[in-house]
Amino acid sequence: MNTIGVFTSGGDAPGMNACLRAVVRTALGADMRVVGIRRGYAGMLCGEFEAMNHASVSNIIQLGGTILKTARSKDFCERDQRACSARLVKEAGVEGLVAIGGDGTLRGAQCLWGEHGIPIIGVPGTIDNDIYGTDETIGYDTAVNTALDAIDKIRDTATSHERLFFVEVMGRDAGFIALSVGAAGGAEMILVPEHDTGVEEIHRTILAGIGQGKVSSIIVVAEGDEEGGALEIARRVRQFGGVECRATILGHTQRGGRPTARDRILASELGAAAVNALLAGKAGQMVGRVNGEIVLTPLTDTWGKKKPLDERLYELAMALAA
Ligand code: F6P
Repeated sequence: MNTIGVFTSGGDAPGMNACLRAVVRTALGADMRVVGIRRGYAGMLCGEFEAMNHASVSNIIQLGGTILKTARSKDFCERDQRACSARLVKEAGVEGLVAIGGDGTLRGAQCLWGEHGIPIIGVPGTIDNDIYGTDETIGYDTAVNTALDAIDKIRDTATSHERLFFVEVMGRDAGFIALSVGAAGGAEMILVPEHDTGVEEIHRTILAGIGQGKVSSIIVVAEGDEEGGALEIARRVRQFGGVECRATILGHTQRGGRPTARDRILASELGAAAVNALLAGKAGQMVGRVNGEIVLTPLTDTWGKKKPLDERLYELAMALAA
């Protein structure tokens, strides 16, 4: 293999740049050419390709976001559009691809491999951590720390005003960010899609806490929780009466910022592993790190198999919150 392409796609995640750096420098070290594809699948459709060298990835390991930009492409969901992208990739002399992103990115990667035989290796890059085949995804640790910092600050005002706060974190349909942030932030309750906690029960727990002398509380809400987001839950809890509360949505702040050391190291390891996998003739798989080891998982399993929430941590966080 003489030329590989690399791109980031879907929601950006802190550490994507560190991963790009690792991909580019590992490939150059193996005497390959590297083509950067801008704006993910959207850019691939328009042939937005650029040659990358050592300097292209200098001084980016510490930067959030992605220097190659990213997008969510509806057009790429069309089979004929994918065929067009595959043709452009092949015409650019690209013989293998590294796709960095979340669930949607990995699904697109499987299409390029399955429909057009372009060897492709996925790298899990999403703050959500909802990808099977890796203990952590690139960006998750940074997002958790960003949200935790915000929650610590909210705790100050919650304590001063003796108030209850519902704080909504990202995570799509999964509760990984909420659980980690809730456990680390000492939240009084953690509402995740994996556990159904009705509003009545939430209200009852809040009143029980007040009865025991709790004057301020933080309840972390995963954006995918079945009862709704923080605003909706706060509205319904107020309707039950006897509780004054505020709601805060942390939103896209969780996607930005300097990646933590943990994310930079994970990104570097997985970026290098992806290139080495291509060189070893692998394709249609994702590189991940499980129990400290680099592993390959078929792309179809990365979304077809469900990564479980750490139930032990959930039980511990709930027991300590009591
Ligand atoms: O997948 C990452 C993520 O930040 C999710 O947590 C969130 O649901 C979604 O992306 C938001 O996407 P967008 O930035 O396109 O609104």
